[in-house]
Amino acid sequence: MAAAPPKLSLLLSLITTIYIFLSCTTITPVFSAGKPGPFACDVSKNPDLESFTFCNPSLDIETRVADLVNKLTLKEKIGWVISGSEGVSRLGIPGYWWWSEALHGIGSNGPGSKFEPDNVRAATSFPQVILTAASFNVSLFHLIGKAISTEARAMHNVGAAGLTFWSPNVNIFRDPRWGRGQETPGEDPLLSSQYAVAYVKALQQRDDGDQTRLKVAACCKHYTAYDLEHWKEFDRFTFDAQVTQQDLDDTYQPPFKSCVLDGNVASVMCSYNQVNGKPSCGNPELLNGVVRGQWKLNGYIVSDCDSVEVLFNHQHYKNSPEEAAAVAVNSGLDLDCGSFLLEHVEAAVSRGLINETSINRAVTNNFATLMRLGFFDGNPTNQLYGNLGLNDICTKENQELAREAALQGIVLLKNLGNSLPLSPTSVKSLAVIGPNADDKDFNMLGSYFGNPCEYTTPLKGLTAYVPTVYHSGCNRILCDVAQVDEAKKIASTVDAVVLVVGSNQTIETEGLDRENITLPGQQQLLISEVAKVAKGPVILVIMSGGGMDVQFAKENPKITGILWAGFPGEAGGTAIADVIFGSHNPSGRLPLTWYPQSYAEKVNMTDMNMRPNPTTGYPGRTYRFYIGPTVYPFGYGLSYSEFKHLLAEPLPTIMTVDLEEGHACQSSDCKSVDAVEPMCKNLGFGVHLTVKNVGKLTGSHTVLVFSRPPRVHNAPRKQLVAFRKVHLRPKGEEVVRFEIDVCKDLSVVDELGNRKVALGKHVLHVGNLKHSFNVTI
Ligand SMILES: *[C@@H]1O[C@H](CO)[C@@H](O)[C@H](O)[C@H]1NC(C)=O
Ligand SMILES: *[C@@H]1O[C@H](CO)[C@@H](O)[C@H](O)[C@H]1NC(C)=O
Ligand SMILES: *[C@@H]1O[C@H](CO)[C@@H](O)[C@H](O)[C@H]1NC(C)=O
Ligand SMILES: *[C@@H]1O[C@H](CO)[C@@H](O)[C@H](O)[C@H]1NC(C)=O
Ligand SMILES: *[C@@H]1O[C@H](CO)[C@@H](O)[C@H](O)[C@H]1NC(C)=O
Repeated sequence: MAAAPPKLSLLLSLITTIYIFLSCTTITPVFSAGKPGPFACDVSKNPDLESFTFCNPSLDIETRVADLVNKLTLKEKIGWVISGSEGVSRLGIPGYWWWSEALHGIGSNGPGSKFEPDNVRAATSFPQVILTAASFNVSLFHLIGKAISTEARAMHNVGAAGLTFWSPNVNIFRDPRWGRGQETPGEDPLLSSQYAVAYVKALQQRDDGDQTRLKVAACCKHYTAYDLEHWKEFDRFTFDAQVTQQDLDDTYQPPFKSCVLDGNVASVMCSYNQVNGKPSCGNPELLNGVVRGQWKLNGYIVSDCDSVEVLFNHQHYKNSPEEAAAVAVNSGLDLDCGSFLLEHVEAAVSRGLINETSINRAVTNNFATLMRLGFFDGNPTNQLYGNLGLNDICTKENQELAREAALQGIVLLKNLGNSLPLSPTSVKSLAVIGPNADDKDFNMLGSYFGNPCEYTTPLKGLTAYVPTVYHSGCNRILCDVAQVDEAKKIASTVDAVVLVVGSNQTIETEGLDRENITLPGQQQLLISEVAKVAKGPVILVIMSGGGMDVQFAKENPKITGILWAGFPGEAGGTAIADVIFGSHNPSGRLPLTWYPQSYAEKVNMTDMNMRPNPTTGYPGRTYRFYIGPTVYPFGYGLSYSEFKHLLAEPLPTIMTVDLEEGHACQSSDCKSVDAVEPMCKNLGFGVHLTVKNVGKLTGSHTVLVFSRPPRVHNAPRKQLVAFRKVHLRPKGEEVVRFEIDVCKDLSVVDELGNRKVALGKHVLHVGNLKHSFNVTI
């Protein structure tokens, strides 16, 4: 979405309001809540509506939607193919804003949701998704989604939010410079898929188990191969992503496929960019063919805002606006975020470019979604979740979960001589330095944020443990001027130093990719100079979405600890302090590769290829394919404790695929076989591992199971096939069981996009454990 930045004055007044609010000790709402958000079929106002089939909640959705569509004129229908849908007062239907956001808490992007001083002032702001992903904890993903959907329903009941949320963002974080990488679960298709499914289900599933209904509607975006904002002369509105069928099916599509097939998401958003010469929102193969046809989306396809206008005005994809509208609608688009379709569909219909059947299809999908949400069941406060209100937003539990999520995500990257955790009793004075240390601009929230319930900066969090002295060390986050002398002065006098650096939304965000992946401006200079004069431990805390080349800090023995905190949300400062002072043992793992700066200098951001190219020297992308040096690899992350894995049961050394009689591979030499039934039946084995905490502290540990397939079909060097997080006391142990399905988990995608089981030697890795086995026929 091309989100307008919030007006500064407005933001400031809201911030002030929040602080005033927080300074009150009693949280009894002193303001009366607003009226419920818009809803149709208000029989209390108009008893005639009761006789309408579409208003009858006891009938099935299909019958009701058909009745409604049947009652509308073409003009009225056109009002419901755009995001600011127009009410039909003769039928008791109000207008509706489809665009609300719930990426990591209710956001203020989009007109569907709003924070107001006399209604809902704030909502829980969880860590930006990239940090939550680093927890590798699927139950946490689910709990966060559930807390957010409850706050969303509560906000809807008081007229502060819609019911359709355009979250999550499940694009693969392909390049470290991507400004929106922070919004995603990272670079791995399996982790992204599991995140998508857990989050979508938590937003959508109702507690009464009624699968035909939705708590709120989620949306997986941006379909597909979208992950460039604005880099050099390229921008997302005109970028034509050249993607091979293999990369598409192997990397870019899996999170969307899982989202629709396993998450049953109610919406998919098509992206601005083109894929192989066709705009995503005007591509019948990708929309009608894949999303609707193969994956059977039960819901609506929406454009990014306003992709349809973009394909006409920026991409000049069609000669007239009517043809542009027609290619979108006829490709399978149901809802336009924007007004392009409102302006041009009618003319397109009269020119015969769009038929009314297609319009009916679009509005049927849109209305069915609203019907599943209860929009046509009268007042939402009389429905399931109708009792939710102001007291269900920013609850203690939700705010505690925001802190918990930050704690679980923070990644310990370096801990020289176990300098961490710091002891709150022996550290008598602490210098807190850096432009993100006392951030009051909501940098910790990351993009797509709303007003947070509370906001604890790292300085405040650390000061709760020990006395601190503070200096920002830079004129601002961009750090064009480092205030080295002032920073050194305080650093040289204290027992320990914490430096909080990194980026913010002016450096990496929507519409803005980075050029360099080093720390901004003179931050590196500041850090190195401060480290020189420090007497005790120096702990570097990095806030960022993408990776940073901090090789200098990794190698500097004076810098004893490094933590990555993503954008840790409203409780980020508390969580950072809890990790530094050992109230929490860190367990996050990087959900993305941290590359050296040379990567940004060598690699064309527009190159969508995942696989390296030995002839051009192109190194490939992500841990699955990249062959160069890293600053920190995918999956990296330390603990204050130590964990060991042992095989609890021996693994097979040979797996035999039973081919059907007369299979071509029986008579010729095959490198792989199709991963299809019946060969795939019961082709699998269990991996049972004993995980032991052999250190001194209680902590959580993520078991990551990787496979290395044989080198056929240009397969990944390595891929994550399963993961599980366990919590263990010192000396504690637990057996973790994974069921590995050879066809599903160990197969690779071939050059044509088909799943294949490679024949030959496969290797499974878990930490230092390795096991090889042969797949034969
Ligand atoms: C309407 O248009 C769609 C998309 O072009 C086409 O598939 C369908 O057959 C048409 N239906 C009728 C009744 O003409
Ligand atoms: C990020 O930091 C810069 C200063 O380096 C500041 O000007 C800007 O307002 C900050 N961005 C946001 C979105 O707060
Ligand atoms: C990126 O780094 C290069 C080399 O250090 C520098 O010349 C350039 O100005 C940097 N670009 C940005 C946007 O900071
Ligand atoms: C980068 O890729 C773009 C197309 O995506 C191409 O126009 C440009 O020449 C490439 N640049 C280099 C240095 O390879
Ligand atoms: C996963 O997250 C849940 C919710 O916060 C938490 O209760 C659980 O302990 C976490 N699991 C591990 C192994 O840390």
